[in-house]
Amino acid sequence: MDLRNTFDNYLTENNFSGNYPIELYEPLDYILSLGGKRIRPLLTLMACQLFSEDITPALPIAYGIEIFHNFSLLHDDIMDESSLRRGKATVHKKYDTNTAILSGDVMLVYAYKYISKTPSQILPNILDIFNEVATGVCEGQQMDMNFETADVVSIQEYIRMIELKTSILLYGAMKMGAICGGAGNEESELVGEFGRNMGIAFQLQDDYLDTYGKQAKVGKRIGGDILQNKKTYLVIKALELGDSLQKEELRGLLSETVDKSEEEQKIKRVKEIFTATGIPGELKKAIGEYSEKALKNLFHLKIPSSKKSSLEGLLKDLMKREH
Ligand code: IPE
Ligand code: IPE
Ligand code: MG
Ligand code: MG
Ligand code: MG
Repeated sequence: MDLRNTFDNYLTENNFSGNYPIELYEPLDYILSLGGKRIRPLLTLMACQLFSEDITPALPIAYGIEIFHNFSLLHDDIMDESSLRRGKATVHKKYDTNTAILSGDVMLVYAYKYISKTPSQILPNILDIFNEVATGVCEGQQMDMNFETADVVSIQEYIRMIELKTSILLYGAMKMGAICGGAGNEESELVGEFGRNMGIAFQLQDDYLDTYGKQAKVGKRIGGDILQNKKTYLVIKALELGDSLQKEELRGLLSETVDKSEEEQKIKRVKEIFTATGIPGELKKAIGEYSEKALKNLFHLKIPSSKKSSLEGLLKDLMKREH
């Protein structure tokens, strides 16, 4: 059976359908059953498989990480005022905000519960990594919010922010998987670094799709980042490469929130400025650079190259993804 099916079966066997009160737990099954790409648990299992035939010890970690990811989405969608996720209503829209907060809270606890099922000899190490990851995600999310109202954000600050809010979880997912498979310190760190660089490229692609993707594929509202005045790579580069008129107009557009009736106009105009300043090409370049870094990490890993090919394939697919 392939790793995705193995994971999905574990998830189904461990769903929350019998839990009480139903109002607290139903949103967990709702969001988890909408799928998503399951990239993080897949990375945990793949990282484990680099070092061991038996991926069973990594399954609870993989599930804990996917629960944590989905918890972060429940709260992220409140913070970003997003109504659509995976093509369906977000939890705070389908239920209400208090439900999304509390169901999110209990998901964080369940994430720890599953991660704690790790074999006891590696548990302290795994928990240290997970604590670092979970703290980092909160720090990155706060920086992301701070940047909404900041006038100037540098590329360096932006990369630091996405390293925390997004790529640290891919780092942790892979590092923990590698440790579960029996990797030593140096090896697990290299595998983690692969995840980190891939995670940066992954978030750059997420930013790209937020403006240039198709809603039917992405499953989120296109232009959401523009409406929230997010300082994405697209914005920062356009403010670097635009002429003075374009920069002034873009600054103006991203310094206010607009009424519902003006939303589509704002999205359209900002996108026109991005396109006129060559942003899609710039993004592809940056995504390429971080993918290269990830491949270098993999190159330095001392395992048979046949074992590396599935990770290389996954990296390539993710960077071209349309959802
Ligand atoms: C969305 O993650 C949040 C980000 C960190 C970009 P994914 O794009 O992995 O979302 P799903 O799980 O596949 O829906
Ligand atoms: C989300 O970043 C990062 C976390 C959930 C921690 P985004 O806000 O860009 O993710 P999407 O686009 O809503 O999936
Ligand atoms: Mg967000
Ligand atoms: Mg969001
Ligand atoms: Mg996004």
